[in-house]
Amino acid sequence: MKAVILAGGTGTRLKPLTYWTNKHLLPVGSYPMICYGVTKLRDAGIRDIIIVTNRAALGSFAEVLGSGRDWGVSIMYRVQEEAGGIAQALELARPILSPKEKFVVLLGDNLFEESLRPSYEQFMNQPEGAMVLLKKVEDPRRYGVPKLDATSGRIILIEEKPERPLSDYCVTGIYFYDTEVFDLIGGIKPSRRGELEITDVNNAYAQSGRLAYLEMTGWWTDAGTFESLEAAGRKLNGTIA
Ligand code: G1P
Repeated sequence: MKAVILAGGTGTRLKPLTYWTNKHLLPVGSYPMICYGVTKLRDAGIRDIIIVTNRAALGSFAEVLGSGRDWGVSIMYRVQEEAGGIAQALELARPILSPKEKFVVLLGDNLFEESLRPSYEQFMNQPEGAMVLLKKVEDPRRYGVPKLDATSGRIILIEEKPERPLSDYCVTGIYFYDTEVFDLIGGIKPSRRGELEITDVNNAYAQSGRLAYLEMTGWWTDAGTFESLEAAGRKLNGTIA
C-alpha cells in the first residue's frame, strides 16, 4: 500500500508564521510537522509515500526529507500549482498509483498518537469502498461531521463545518481509499469557495453505503491553528523515533 500526504495549502490560520514557510514544515516538538506523518506511516509498514505540496515549498520539503532514505521510506513529490482543494491535490497522486491499488491519505497537519497498523490491516480486508478515522471532539463545528449507522458500521452522511453537528465526531484527515476515488473526484463540482472538497468525495462513497469508519482511541489534533499547534508540540516533544 502507498500513502499520499497532502501538504500544500496556504496555512491562513497560522499567519504570520506561514508567510515564510509551509505550515507542514513548522516545528512541532523537535521536528518539522511533516516528519510525524512520515514516521507514523513507516511504523505501520507503509514505505512508499507521495507528498503533494506547492511550488514554493517543494525545495524545503526536499531539504528536510530528501528521498526519504534517512527516514526509512521512499518519497516522491508532486506539485500543486494552485490551491484547488484537498480532492484536487489528491488527484495529482493518480499517475503514481497502480490502477487497482488501495492507498491511504493523510492530511499533513493531522497529528495523533495511535499506530496506523490496525486500521491499515482492517482496510486491507475491506472488499471495496473507503474508510475514514473518526475522533470524538469538543467542538465538531470546526470539522467534517459524520452521521453514523452503528449497526452497519457505515457513515450515512458527512456535513462540513455544520452549525448543528449530527454527532460528536470529527472525520479526521486520515482516509483509506480504493482507486475508484479518482472517478468520484471526477464527478464532483467545486464548492462555494471554489474548491474540490474531500467531504463531497467521501459523501459519494457514503451514498452507496461504502464508507466505513473506525474510531481513534488515542489523542488526535489537527495542528492548523496556534492553539492546536502548541498543544501538539507539548504532546509530541521528544516522542518521534
Ligand atoms: C479538513 C476537512 C475536514 C476534516 C479536517 C480534519 O478541514 O475538510 O472534513 O475534519 O480537515 O483535519 P480543514 O482543516 O481543511 O478546514
